[in-house]
Amino acid sequence: MRIIVMDNYDEMSKRAALMITSQVMLKPDSVLGLATGDTPLGMYKELIKLYNKKEVDFKEVRTFNLDEYYGINRENLQSYYYFMNSNLFNSINIARENINMPDGMAKDVNASCKGYENKIKELGGIDMQVLGIGGNGHIGFNEPNVNFEAETHLVNLEEQTIEANSRFFTSIKDVPVKAISMGIKTIMNSKKIILLANGLNKAKAIERAVNGKINPNIPASILQLHNDVTIIIDKEAASKL
Ligand code: F6R
Repeated sequence: MRIIVMDNYDEMSKRAALMITSQVMLKPDSVLGLATGDTPLGMYKELIKLYNKKEVDFKEVRTFNLDEYYGINRENLQSYYYFMNSNLFNSINIARENINMPDGMAKDVNASCKGYENKIKELGGIDMQVLGIGGNGHIGFNEPNVNFEAETHLVNLEEQTIEANSRFFTSIKDVPVKAISMGIKTIMNSKKIILLANGLNKAKAIERAVNGKINPNIPASILQLHNDVTIIIDKEAASKL
């Protein structure tokens, strides 16, 4: 694991955007794995700036998002589809048909998850996967007591995750309790991984993921076994290392 500690959130975001840009320059049809949440927002803003300066071209890029809430449709303002459109896709030249998101309204969830995995494989696998981390050490929506063998699947969200995500909803009752998420196996099959974290509330999870034993209670700890992980964090998230 390479750990890069940046002074603050903006610097973390810039560094991550540069890594994505370099990836896309080296391989214009890169397959990127993307995350939602507060953490990558700054990175997406930077990517849009770099795109506007013509420093990166997304014309041939293909994307797969890590996860999507289950039971809310794409038009819902809280769907991750909506998030990705408003925070990145609508502002760059990615081709619509190259965007892949888990289907939160799938009738046959198992078939839909299998289809998602197959598509990733057909396109040659994920070249660079971006991850955030939950305060409980989750990656994607792979919650503690994770099955390290799982591929894309339906998950029950933990109380802590529902509570953390309730900030985006009118009431905690509106937060979906299930989501479709890439599994740990899907994530570990990515060729390169960058994990971003900022703020004191992530310091413990980062410390346990980096220095702790590999343990299903801290899903991110499995990343210690991956041969190309870069962790880009601010000073606060690094404060317990
Ligand atoms: C989002 C995702 C989650 C978040 C994590 C951190 O697609 O997969 O694992 O990365 O919950 O969320 P934020 O960035 O909001 O603190």
